[in-house]
Amino acid sequence: MVVTPERHATAVGAAVLRDGGNAIDAAVAVAAALTVTYPVAGNLLGGGFLLYVDPDGNAYALDHREVSPRALTPDHFRDASGKIDPRRSREGGLAVGVPGSAAGLEAMHRRWGTRPFRALVRPAVRLARQGFPISRRAAAEIEKRLEALAADPEARAIFTRDGRAPEPGDRLVQRDLARTLRRYGREGAAAIHTGEIARAIADTVTAYGGVLTVDDLASYRPVSRDPLRGTYRGHDLVTFPPPSSGGVALLQILAMLEPLDLTDSGPGSSRTLHRMIEAERRAYADRASWLGDPDAFAVPVEALLDPDYLRARAASIREDRATPSEEISAGVFEGIESPDTLHVSIVDRHGGAVALTTTLNSAFGAAIVARGTGLLLNNEIDDFALAPGVPNQFGLLGGRANAVSGGKRPLSSMTPTIVLRDGRPVLVVGSPGGSTIITTVLQIVVNVLEHGMELQEAVDAPRIHHQYLPDVVFHERRGLTEDVRRALEARGHTLRLRTRPIGVVAAIALDPETGEWLGAADPRDDGTAEAP
Ligand code: DON
Repeated sequence: MVVTPERHATAVGAAVLRDGGNAIDAAVAVAAALTVTYPVAGNLLGGGFLLYVDPDGNAYALDHREVSPRALTPDHFRDASGKIDPRRSREGGLAVGVPGSAAGLEAMHRRWGTRPFRALVRPAVRLARQGFPISRRAAAEIEKRLEALAADPEARAIFTRDGRAPEPGDRLVQRDLARTLRRYGREGAAAIHTGEIARAIADTVTAYGGVLTVDDLASYRPVSRDPLRGTYRGHDLVTFPPPSSGGVALLQILAMLEPLDLTDSGPGSSRTLHRMIEAERRAYADRASWLGDPDAFAVPVEALLDPDYLRARAASIREDRATPSEEISAGVFEGIESPDTLHVSIVDRHGGAVALTTTLNSAFGAAIVARGTGLLLNNEIDDFALAPGVPNQFGLLGGRANAVSGGKRPLSSMTPTIVLRDGRPVLVVGSPGGSTIITTVLQIVVNVLEHGMELQEAVDAPRIHHQYLPDVVFHERRGLTEDVRRALEARGHTLRLRTRPIGVVAAIALDPETGEWLGAADPRDDGTAEAP
């Protein structure tokens, strides 16, 4: 079963499985195809997290998150008067992190792949060369980001029609990208990280005021990490460790919720939502202080997940009223120093499961194409905390743990997660959505494991989100009934409508009755689910 946010890419993955490839093979082919067919987030010059459970039940986490260029300093983000200019981490060359996806796909293929790399990249080459019809949603995404895309000559030539957004149904042909992908298929990540293409990437970033060098590109390496493990209501969860904040926050929230009987209070009720909001608020407060790149900051993962700590924290949740975020601070631990993104879920016939979340950060990343390559640059540097109290584009705050410094990975919210039962995957899930990724994954896990929803029902269900600061509950349009809204307000919650949907889930679950895999794409985007 393959679930992705775009139908051509889904079909590419299903074909790989049909031809006997495994979930990793399919994930490589899908990720390459999404670079072509889902340019709002698909990428070789972004970064991501792969969570993989192999057919024997062993779990692996491959971190191919971007790192900051070595020469980058916090001062790069101050204007002449010394004030932080948040635009610099979102637009232009300083926003661009050293990419990790090209090396990440190659590394996962080398370790677990079974089909020739070149054959897996070939469908992407074909889609780029022959083109494909642009969907209504993709045309709308280009329209929304038109100003930035039209400002870069190559992005303008590829993604716009003389500076206007294409019409739905227009063909998107990407010749430079086809050439780049063909080389990538033949030579692997070296084709992107060294030589001519690396030069083009570094030159483009420099022309836009950045400091990324060919040495930064040549020295990039993905990192294998130990997945985080936890339990919820008799299930084992495997999820992503730092530099994701998602796994830690997800396990914290689930641990705070477990003793409360959400089954009893039921999905969508004000009691259930209140409890979830309160647990989210507390986890995101810890996130702001304690989470960052574990290779640059001692992230106290064990202390954050300590059952006694979480029990005490949960005990401060009141049933009758919201705790204002200003009354909450991050945990104190002794002795410790201190859209756009996409998600793909795949399972294969051997029982291998892939949860892959990958990102350019903003829609179309920096909206800059590395010259002559057809590849969009990321703007991942905005995931750092530029200074205490300065929110990033997702309104997230941070401190020392996630401060900018050269060679460091910015903190991520990406939360690829696999739920196991008796050591076998039963739910594979993940989502884009910036800060809302964590709470989106949480809601799928709770909807399925706690409320017993069918997978598609769990994905379709309206979502809410609280991230500590700002102290508001975000909700989707028509997500709260009138009496729930009133009951939450009566407890002291401030509600705020999010006009954009929260998350774009791709999920796969084992149907307990038939033993078959069920795939669920999110109606909030163009995604599809397909079994070979
Ligand atoms: O890694 C992160 O947390 C962000 N760069 C993710 C961005 C994102 O999900 C935007 N998509 N809607």
